[in-house]
Amino acid sequence: MQQANAKKGSTRWSNRFAYILAATGAAVGLGNIWKFPYIMGENGGGAFVLVYLLCIVFIGVPVMMAEVAIGKQGRHTPGHSVSDVAKASGKPAWWGFVGWMGVISGYLILSFYVVIAGWALAYIFKAGAGQFGSGDPKAVANLFAGLTGNGWALLGWTSTVILATVLVIGKGVKAGLERAVSALMPLLFVILLILAGYAASEGDFGAAFHFMFDPDFSKLSINGVVVALGHSFFTLSLASGIMIMYGAYLPEGVSIAKSSLWIAFFDTLVALIAGLAIYPIVFANGLEPGAGPGLIFQTLPIAFGQMPGGRIVGTLFFIMLVFAAFTSALALIESSVAWLVEKRGFSRWGAAFAAGFGIWLLSLGTIASVAELPISQFAMPWGKSDFFTMLDYFTANIALPIGGLLIALFTGWVANKGLMAELIDAKAVFRLWHPVIKFLAPLAILLVFLQLTGIIQL
Ligand code: PHE
Ligand code: NA
Repeated sequence: MQQANAKKGSTRWSNRFAYILAATGAAVGLGNIWKFPYIMGENGGGAFVLVYLLCIVFIGVPVMMAEVAIGKQGRHTPGHSVSDVAKASGKPAWWGFVGWMGVISGYLILSFYVVIAGWALAYIFKAGAGQFGSGDPKAVANLFAGLTGNGWALLGWTSTVILATVLVIGKGVKAGLERAVSALMPLLFVILLILAGYAASEGDFGAAFHFMFDPDFSKLSINGVVVALGHSFFTLSLASGIMIMYGAYLPEGVSIAKSSLWIAFFDTLVALIAGLAIYPIVFANGLEPGAGPGLIFQTLPIAFGQMPGGRIVGTLFFIMLVFAAFTSALALIESSVAWLVEKRGFSRWGAAFAAGFGIWLLSLGTIASVAELPISQFAMPWGKSDFFTMLDYFTANIALPIGGLLIALFTGWVANKGLMAELIDAKAVFRLWHPVIKFLAPLAILLVFLQLTGIIQL
């Protein structure tokens, strides 16, 4: 046993805290600060939050435990780790495709994630230079249109994000990834608390609190429930190879159940505090909570332009957003880099640049879509679409739900029960986890998937 392990990948996080921090860095991202606040706004607030929390606890956490367990057993890149668990369970190695799907989803997500992260990076400078002016809605909208309509500017910001990602990840798991995350995550929490404090004193905190934590079920549609479940996957970075990869680096003696709960707790905390930092400002300024994806790039800057200290707070806000997005981007590229090193004989630096170059090429598709170049629109069977919309749709609504479903089915039905029990340490926890991963999670995910693809309409 000892010897078999020694032959496998030997990279490990320094300790339990380093692992939890790194995985929290992977989880906390654009999903928490950009997406969660606006989908909560679109779906009526409190009742949506409650359902979202239930999804995190009863589906997200069990699936995360399953992924980390696979990684810990395999100690390889995701495809190979899933194969290993299959083989150890006397099942065919082709089950590895479940891990492979995740790696591919993660890679595709990264290709547009870096573009949005580029917007956030650009906004640090716009906020810092006082370009939100006095918060005139029209001027703020023009600012956003000016950025997203300028292909060369987008290319520049996106390339900067990718280069930074490559330069950190090339240094390795410990010297690059772990060190960067250990520096950025505490800063992110500090900025988040400053912003929430500012929102509480300058904004309408009472209205925001009421909006988020006073459930009004008449405002929640069945579609809102589906969105909540889907987002619980996205926000915890599930079904994207990430948690399998991070599990492969898990030091011995770390409880998979406890650490997963901590990661989910921090991710949820950041999302909720982000809401509590954004909504008091939105309400105090009479802005629209259901503004959609433009909430933080087009709505919030109106308030930043109008409020005392808004220039500094706005700058801090976008710095925080970049930190959050960057630690997720590092996670998203790690599986591909590790695979190039492990299976293709690349050096770590060579792998980082190769993976980064592939992302850069793919990101051109998203940039062309956003900047509306003549080549960017093409006809699809379901109507006119663009590369960005398709990627976003395919990954979030198809690849992640199917990937999560397969992880649940694989660990619940295919993998050896004794092996899973050994990996999910505590007996009592395993007895709770197993029926959830075997029945509850697959059924719930199936429901989401069918709803999102329009096969059923609830
Ligand atoms: N969890 C990340 C976020 O909240 C997004 C993400 C999804 C990252 C899937 C990787 C994979 O922003
Ligand atoms: Na998240």
